[in-house]
This record gives sequence, structure tokens and C-alpha cells, in this order.
Amino acid sequence: MEPHIVVTEETVQLLQITDTHLFADDEGCLLSVNTGLSFQAVVDDIAAHNLPFDAIIATGDISQDHSVASYNRFANGIKKLVKPCYWLPGNHDLQANMGKVLPSEQINEVSHVFAGDYWQLIMLNSQVEGLPHGYLEQHELDLLDEKLSQHPERHTLVLLHHNSLPIGSTWLDQHKLQKADQFWRVLEKHNNVRAVLGGHVHQDFEQECHGIKVIATPSTCIQFKANTHEFALDTLPPGWRHIQLHKDGRLDSQLHRLDEGCFVPDFDAQGY
Ligand SMILES: [Fe+2]
Repeated sequence: MEPHIVVTEETVQLLQITDTHLFADDEGCLLSVNTGLSFQAVVDDIAAHNLPFDAIIATGDISQDHSVASYNRFANGIKKLVKPCYWLPGNHDLQANMGKVLPSEQINEVSHVFAGDYWQLIMLNSQVEGLPHGYLEQHELDLLDEKLSQHPERHTLVLLHHNSLPIGSTWLDQHKLQKADQFWRVLEKHNNVRAVLGGHVHQDFEQECHGIKVIATPSTCIQFKANTHEFALDTLPPGWRHIQLHKDGRLDSQLHRLDEGCFVPDFDAQGY
């Protein structure tokens, strides 16, 4: 049987956590931000908001050090959120070690899941192992095309780590999804894609392209400054997103951030 997100109401409610960049070591830091603590603070913030949600989606760069222990840190961290979690790899991940955490009662690694009666989620792997940019192999494009064809009556949320549109920062855009036109050609063949959601760019981004919403979400650790030519960090705090998928195909989302001044990185850093 196909995996299915069970919903409590007609509208599907999702939580997105992305780019946690976790380490095995409790002291593991990215540009002086302890990513384990910032991740935990985000999970605590989510729990404190007490919002309704049916599933968690984690859109890659779960780990920074590739260790099984870093993936276990993620799995243990989200336990208190109880609901099922769907994760996909980012450029920093090591899929072999993600797999060692599975089977998990909470975490699922699937490429397709129904969500309630009106939506489907398609999760793509855009990782090119060892390289920061993204690319979708032909079998990923085929899968996308196939699921969109098989379920034309379902509104679709497509998830992948890398940004499929330029976000306006030169240094980051060289690491976007390569040959993104191939991806967009598949989406344009169908009329049931409502949104594309990812991470990678460590900032809030939302734009519409061919009637499809393209959204990226801040990391749970460091933030990249928008619209910069060279690598630059932002002082904005870690964030997460709450998403509603409505019966009529509309997607609403609200960005949440921790308090100002939380987990400020080392501004002398030249890159990451
Ligand atoms: Fe990242």
C-alpha cells in the first residue's frame, strides 16, 4: 500500500524543518553556532506553539559530519513532536548513513506519499554526492512525471533540497539545481503542481513561477544574507515553517523564527 499521511482535518498541515547540519559531537558548531542546540531550540519552539500538524518534512542537510550519530541526534530530537517525519537528502548528507537510522518508527524515506484525500507529496533526491550543487537524474525526473500523471486529480507539493530558481545571491546560485529547465519542463507538462518546497539557501524565499509557488525556508542554524554577491551571513535567528495544504489547491504558510539574537554566528567567517 502506498504511504499515506493521515490528516485530522480536510486541510493538510505540515511542519518544515530544514538544514539542521547536525554533528555527532555535542559541541559541534557551524561558524560558532552549536547546531545541536539550535535544532533543539527550534523543536522546543514548535512544541511551545502547540499548532496542529499531521507530519514533519525535513528537506535535507540533516547532518554536517555524515555520522550515523548525527542522524540519530535528529531522530531523537524530533521524537517529542510525535508525528511522522519524511526526510530527503541535501548536499551535505550521506545517504548510506541516513539509511542506518531506518527503519525508524517516526522517520520515513519515501519518494511519494498521499496526504489526506486531495494532495500528494513527491520527494526528490537532488544530491550530487560530494558537490554542493543539485542535479536530478533522469530516474528522478521520470518518477516526478509518473506520479503527476498517475494522480492528476491530486494537488501536488514537490520537495527537493536545492533551489530550482535563482534566489539572487551569486555565490549561492552557482550551487542551485543544475539543468533546472529539465525539472521545470516536467512540471509544466502537468497542471496539478501547486508548490515546490526546499531548503539549501538558509533564508526565507517565496516566488511564483508558471503559477507554481517556489518556497525555501531558513535553516535551524545559520542564516545566509539575501541578495549578496559573495558569501555573507545574516543576523536573523533560526526558523521553521508551518504549512497548510487546502482542499482547493491553495497553499498557505507561516514562517516562524526564534527570538532575535538567538544563535548568532561568527561574522568573521569567510565561507562555510
Ligand atoms: Fe544547508
